[in-house]
Amino acid sequence: MSPNESGAEAGSLAFSGSALTLVDVTKRFGNVKALDQVSLDIPKRSFVSLLGPSGCGKSTLLALMAGLESPSSGSVMVHGRELRGANSAAGMVFQKDLLLGWKTALENILFQFEIRGLPSAPHVERAHSLLTLVGLEAFANSYPHELSGGMRQRVALCRALVHEPELLLMDEPFGALDAITREKVAIDLESITANSEKTVVFVTHSLEEAVFLGDVVLVLSARPGRIAARIDVDVPRPRREWPRGVSVFTPYIDQAFAALQQAGAYDHVEA
Ligand SMILES: Nc1ncnc2c1ncn2[C@@H]1O[C@H](COP(=O)(O)OP(=O)(O)OP(=O)(O)O)[C@@H](O)[C@H]1O
Ligand SMILES: [Mg+2]
Repeated sequence: MSPNESGAEAGSLAFSGSALTLVDVTKRFGNVKALDQVSLDIPKRSFVSLLGPSGCGKSTLLALMAGLESPSSGSVMVHGRELRGANSAAGMVFQKDLLLGWKTALENILFQFEIRGLPSAPHVERAHSLLTLVGLEAFANSYPHELSGGMRQRVALCRALVHEPELLLMDEPFGALDAITREKVAIDLESITANSEKTVVFVTHSLEEAVFLGDVVLVLSARPGRIAARIDVDVPRPRREWPRGVSVFTPYIDQAFAALQQAGAYDHVEA
């Protein structure tokens, strides 16, 4: 094992190779140009946070990475090959939880294996430990309609993590959570991913979340989305402590705020 692969440190030196590369990707929907010539390299095992004004193409970018959409021009490369069709290495968490109403929390998590035609029994223990991690062990046998929106979203997070996807694509996954739960789950996510081989692309509108979780924060410009700024968050892991008032995070939060302001995120008039 090379020093790069030890995984002991999650700083930028620990990365080796690319999980995903976008080369001059433009995406149009009819007359709307959502993304314009986005070139981007996502190193393996990195945590990339994406910030940008509403409608600038963040969800579109994730859909391209998941292979759910294809570029109008340019290419999406996974392990050096052009992605065609669904990206089988990717797991997704959406803003809406998309749980199956007729399955319990535990069964929804284990559904990851069911859809792949794999036995779920070997993974029951891991599913339970993920439920414990997000404070929902007592609700393993509850159905989605018996859970609050925040609880459902935490189950969806467990479902995305249970099969250890190489690439985790998260589209405002904590948007439905109350502020306190949101911070707690973000801290959990930081410790889960700091100790894993996972590459994560995480879309959020929260500056604190982006900086606390990210090795890199990318700020997209208003539509058509382009990479407007890249901020390397040079804070060692595990981070654990939420960045409110924690001085080590403050300069990065200020930089991200300034970049978002420049990108038009705080303009009053919507295009
Ligand atoms: N399937 C689609 N068909 C047509 N237009 C689309 C489609 N998906 C996205 N768009 C358009 O592409 C642009 C970017 O949308 P996208 O959902 O990627 O933005 P976003 O950055 O995720 O916004 P938000 O922060 O509000 O979630 C928008 O103008 C949207 O209307
Ligand atoms: Mg979106």
